[in-house]
Amino acid sequence: MTVCEYRPGLEGVPATQSSISYVDGQNGILEYRGIRIDKLAKHSTFLETSYLLIWGQLPTQDELDEFEHEIRYHRRLKYRIRDMMKCFPESGHPMDALQACAAALGLFYSRRALEDPAYIRAAVVRLLAKIPTMVAAFQLMRKGNDPVQPRDDLDYSANFLYMLNEREPDPLAAMIFDVCLNLHAEHTINASTFSAMVTASTLTDPYAVVASAVGTLAGPLHGGANEEVIMMLEEIGSVENVEPYLDKCLENKSKIMGFGHRVYKVKDPRATILQELAEKLFEKFGRDHYYDIAVELERLVEAKLGHKGIYPNVDFYSGLVYSKLGIPTDLFTPVFAIARVAGWLAHWKEQLEANRIFRPTQIYTGIHNAPYIPRGERQTAEGEPVVPELVASNP
Ligand code: SDX
Repeated sequence: MTVCEYRPGLEGVPATQSSISYVDGQNGILEYRGIRIDKLAKHSTFLETSYLLIWGQLPTQDELDEFEHEIRYHRRLKYRIRDMMKCFPESGHPMDALQACAAALGLFYSRRALEDPAYIRAAVVRLLAKIPTMVAAFQLMRKGNDPVQPRDDLDYSANFLYMLNEREPDPLAAMIFDVCLNLHAEHTINASTFSAMVTASTLTDPYAVVASAVGTLAGPLHGGANEEVIMMLEEIGSVENVEPYLDKCLENKSKIMGFGHRVYKVKDPRATILQELAEKLFEKFGRDHYYDIAVELERLVEAKLGHKGIYPNVDFYSGLVYSKLGIPTDLFTPVFAIARVAGWLAHWKEQLEANRIFRPTQIYTGIHNAPYIPRGERQTAEGEPVVPELVASNP
């Protein structure tokens, strides 16, 4: 077997063959099962898009009605999971709470029947239905309140905003939130989806697969960037301070959160749609002055880094939309996870259909056939002998 060239971060290295989504990074194109993301953002709902991603085609009205009904029926959490959440520290990050709860689902559904389509569908329904309830429940419980039960009369996005804010959302807010979920649902072989695939390839349960992906999404270079962007805009504080702030980042060679992408070398098409959604919200609910800072930052980053293909990615404007919807900053990444569960599950299912356990190789850079040096004769890196009494104390 020939060993491929080592590429840091596996840049440009195909890890699978997939028909779920496609990204053209040079022309800013994203397609889910061949349908352009702007069409799905305009015409589809998150649950319809989830069905498309996972089962490969748009559902008929009857198929969608049945799927939506199943989701509504499975939104509630086992009381033991709610009791477990009561033990979490209020100061804990919601992504850690979500990862723990996603893994805990596996305690209740431990049977593994990965070859059974009914098992696959049941796992898809439970995870899509329960993840939003987990996020909203932790939010209320960390404030010392009881979580509210899901409302079966509300659709997916309206119900999440209701559980989070304890009041029915404005229809425009619920519609815009649903579009945000659509935009974040899938994005080929990003880090968290790759985690999901590697975990899936060992034939473990889907709850462990999603828990693995949640942990990966949490990082600031990936899904955690949306939270970092808002903190960055708050730190900049004014339009006048944008250029000095940016120049300091460039001088320190630090990354500007919400910009750059391994694949896109133009503005992320999702960022463009999210910017339009933010402006719709501002028209109805009032402008956010951080938006003016963001627009100025985008202008200056394009001027200074556009030649390197550094443009806004999906995380740059999403936080401004979520803030306007009343979502706390540290819940931005859990919201990203609510959406991306659809993509992770689509890749989990696709991986099982042609599975081979992931086991890459390495370029070994260590030594060979090294001697075993008795403890009393070892020296520290500075050439000092190890202190003998330390050795004597070992049993
Ligand atoms: C997501 O993969 C996906 O699809 C992810 C995602 C999805 O939907 O799943 O799209 C969601 O994770 C979006 C990305 C969110 N992360 C951020 O906004 C964090 C800031 N961005 C960077 O950390 C970075 O752009 C990455 C991590 C997104 C991509 O990193 P790469 O491809 O490994 O690029 P790199 O770090 O090797 O940088 C290449 C060059 C470097 O300059 P040189 O040393 O060659 O001169 O570009 C520069 C970098 O310094 N660069 C940046 C930059 N991103 C890259 N410079 C300033 N600010 C940035 N944000």
